[in-house]
Amino acid sequence: MDKYVINGGSKLYGSVTVQAAKNSVLPLLAATVLTDGEVTLRNVPGITDVKNMVKILTRLGCKAVFSGNDLIIDSSTADCFEIPSELAHELRSSVFLLGSVISRFRTAKIAYPGGCDIGLRPVDLHLTGLKKLGVEITEENGYIICRCDSLRGDEIMLDCPSVGATENIMLAAVKAEGVTIIKNAAREPEIEDLQRFLNKIGANVKGAGSGTIVVRGVKQLGGCDYIPIPDRIEAGTFLIAAAMCGGEVELRQANAENISSLLHKLRENGCKIRINDDKIELESHRRLTSVKSIETQPYPGFPTDLQAQITALCCICRGQSIVTENLFETRFKYVPELRKMGADVTVINRNAFVRGVEKFKGATVVAHDLRGGAALVLAALAADGRSEILDISHIDRGYGSFEYKLRGLGGDIVRVSV
Ligand code: UD1
Repeated sequence: MDKYVINGGSKLYGSVTVQAAKNSVLPLLAATVLTDGEVTLRNVPGITDVKNMVKILTRLGCKAVFSGNDLIIDSSTADCFEIPSELAHELRSSVFLLGSVISRFRTAKIAYPGGCDIGLRPVDLHLTGLKKLGVEITEENGYIICRCDSLRGDEIMLDCPSVGATENIMLAAVKAEGVTIIKNAAREPEIEDLQRFLNKIGANVKGAGSGTIVVRGVKQLGGCDYIPIPDRIEAGTFLIAAAMCGGEVELRQANAENISSLLHKLRENGCKIRINDDKIELESHRRLTSVKSIETQPYPGFPTDLQAQITALCCICRGQSIVTENLFETRFKYVPELRKMGADVTVINRNAFVRGVEKFKGATVVAHDLRGGAALVLAALAADGRSEILDISHIDRGYGSFEYKLRGLGGDIVRVSV
């Protein structure tokens, strides 16, 4: 298992090109199962979540070839509707395949999904939505088994605006008979991206980005060449890194609109931010001031996927902050690790109460999940002294070339195979 060894204290200067959004690429890959046309996705990050999704597609009989950062998928040869447990457990997004696999084969069998251990993460809304479209669902020996004669559009009201459930229902509805209306749909930019992609291959989807999505079923889909949106969470992570370490960092191929909730907070902290088309520049030269409170919310609120990183920043700001996690109940597992690095944080229920300290100090800590792991890397880069971050496989799930990009900015970070 690899670890990072980090000597903290260097300021960060330079440019970073943002990868395509992990949370777009994964549902887009699921969507390729719907079509016999060839799909090329550009700027795809070499992260393990994508590699695992590609493994699953290959197991389903699709052909997938990487050419540099481009990924070419040909699903015309798909001939299998079962997603085996060893792969589904590696990747929660495997559940997004239910919608497209059932659409293609009228049957789908998938082991209960895995992914980050950040709370209960139920899939009830996915399954209720699919049932409304005519799917019969049974559960046997850790597998979800779906069957239907045909898929028929219907109106589906989500109890909460789940990103995954919205995407899964969109995928099942694209080739269903009639019209599907998803109400209280999630409004994340990745859902708009999925709509753009689906329409490009011939679907008829409207309303993504609002709370109501309307899908009119079509008979056939084709191929396309597609550039997914930039990864707002990777972009946010690099901006927070620059805010914590000090320096001047420019993001290229970024979308400022999609992270405006973060940019507001960073400006309140005292960072200077300039936006120029798809570039975002951040300057941070002094110790920053705490923002009083940050609460995670569905988009356009503050993203839960940046909660750990912003908490790490709060830990070294002047003053006190309260960070509230409203989406996933166990998303503070990184806090005891930050405390080993000198942070003064107490978690009570969904709130982290943070009193700013002058500096982190180097320590050996363990990454328990993807975003919590990234927060530890940022803390170590900003710390006095040497740190080791153990079990970085979680970080590899979501950040492509993380240490190369950070080294390019002047961070002293190396990967060591243990
Ligand atoms: C997606 C993102 C993840 C992000 C999250 C919230 C991907 C691959 N992952 O995850 O990075 O942290 O959105 O922005 O896109 N819920 C239910 N029942 C369900 C489904 C969800 O109760 O059937 C609840 C969840 O427990 C959670 C909330 O809804 O409290 C939001 O979860 P959801 O939006 O579904 O997150 P994911 O799609 O899993």
